Amino acid sequence: MNRLIVVSNRLPFALDSTGEDLWTVTPAVGGLVSAIEPVLRERGGTWIGWPGVAGEIPQEPLAKATRNAGYKVVPVALSETERAEFYYGYSNEVIWPLFHDLQNFCNFEPAYWQAYKQVNNRYADAIGRCAQPDDFIWVHDYHLMYVAQALREQSVGRKLSALTFFLHIPFPPYDIFSKLPQQQLLLHALLQFDLLGFQARRDVRNFIQCVRRVLLDAKILPRRDLQLIRFEDREIRVGYFPIGIDFDSFENGARSDSVEQRAQRLRVTFPGCQLILGSDRLDYSKGIPERLRAFRTALERHPELRGRVVLIQVVVPSRVEIPRYHEFKQRIDRLVGDINGRFSTSTWLPVQYHFRSLERDDLLAHYRGCDIAFVTPLKDGMNLVAKEYCACRIDSDGVLILSQFAGAAEQLKPGALLVNPYDVEEMADAILEAFRMNQAERSTRMKRMRRIVRKENVFWWVDSFLRAGAKIASRSLRGVGKRRRSAALNTFRKTGQHQDRPLDTKKAIV
Ligand code: UDP
Ligand code: G6P
Repeated sequence: MNRLIVVSNRLPFALDSTGEDLWTVTPAVGGLVSAIEPVLRERGGTWIGWPGVAGEIPQEPLAKATRNAGYKVVPVALSETERAEFYYGYSNEVIWPLFHDLQNFCNFEPAYWQAYKQVNNRYADAIGRCAQPDDFIWVHDYHLMYVAQALREQSVGRKLSALTFFLHIPFPPYDIFSKLPQQQLLLHALLQFDLLGFQARRDVRNFIQCVRRVLLDAKILPRRDLQLIRFEDREIRVGYFPIGIDFDSFENGARSDSVEQRAQRLRVTFPGCQLILGSDRLDYSKGIPERLRAFRTALERHPELRGRVVLIQVVVPSRVEIPRYHEFKQRIDRLVGDINGRFSTSTWLPVQYHFRSLERDDLLAHYRGCDIAFVTPLKDGMNLVAKEYCACRIDSDGVLILSQFAGAAEQLKPGALLVNPYDVEEMADAILEAFRMNQAERSTRMKRMRRIVRKENVFWWVDSFLRAGAKIASRSLRGVGKRRRSAALNTFRKTGQHQDRPLDTKKAIV
């Protein structure tokens, strides 16, 4: 039976020193961790990643933090400089803004690229140390696009049956990608993987367009399911695999007494009001200022909403050491202050603003208790908050207002109110439409979305990706023994027991 080896920049928790020989373990927030954690818990395997602390990794706290994980954890250390230049630098000041079509936010500092390659080499070393030839290597996200190239340079790549990669964020169109100084090197590096997975059709289209324009030697052979690229005597498969959520875990969680009571409390706190939920990491790609401006416009244009709606905006701190994120937070603070200053009355505060992460039951209670989810990223790989909202609406009620530029829009368009997040007036009107929508229509739309989110869940996602990867592994093993080939095809068989126990969302001291 092949082992699954997941490689991502981050492990599902971050260690932090309290300064007294004690360490805190904080669960990491973000779509990647939310999706991968239940999968590894179910199947077992190995997770290679960074535990969020710069410098040497404290072994005892790490062992304590991972002892009940259900899978093996292999930590990768980053120095202070690497954290600054690889993580904050190339990953989050170059690739992240560029891939979200925000090229004006990029800082194309040349030193960052060297750090990026250096750290990707470190991850390749870690894979080389723990992988067996039949293992299924699955590298995740934009921090690690150079790993296959590094493995091939170390000649480890040749010994592995399949090197696979999944990009959680969008892939930009050529006009934007071509701003990247390392465009050729990066595409060349990506084509060292055997299978490349993207979130949405649009990302595959953009990627293929970039390969066609930048790597003139690459041959693209369109196929019905997976596209085929021939490059330097190798074949690379490319496809879209929309990531899902652990639907049952959210649905069961939403049914629990604790969540029901919390949802009830939330509702009675705002009598006579419809609750609108925004919940995002602090990130300029999430369209939070545009959303707040749309809410302000809705209150200006549609007086019937005054005193009848409350926007609960949760902003989870993220990447606060990058100056742009810090400035962005101040912009949000100012907008919230402006709206509340202008519209509040002695009995009504239009925006409830929380700058912190919510514990799981609280988050679920917000999903369950809010009438409208307002999810308006300027661009997003998928957006799991939208799917989690649907999974928690066990009463098949609730309206989802969703950005047309979220990957989730490809799947949820039959039920969501799609909006252009740059069009503040259209979003304001969508708030009114959601507010006035009758129960029958709300229910029809929500049922459609719940069906999709239930079926195309995270286990469906992982199975379809692993199945595609296993076929490639078996092809690459043609000519080797029958046993190794059939082992490759068995990769997607489960190796662990599914535990309906989500990642702990509480901070702990170890
Ligand atoms: N989330 C969380 N705590 C919070 C708010 C959100 O753990 O207080 C989780 C949420 O459940 C979701 C993830 O953070 O699984 C956000 O994923 P998404 O794909 O929406 O966006 P990303 O942060 O990955 O860009
Ligand atoms: C997005 C990315 C993930 C990342 C997460 C949180 O979901 O796709 O790779 O882990 O944001 O960001 P952070 O910088 O805290 O890891």
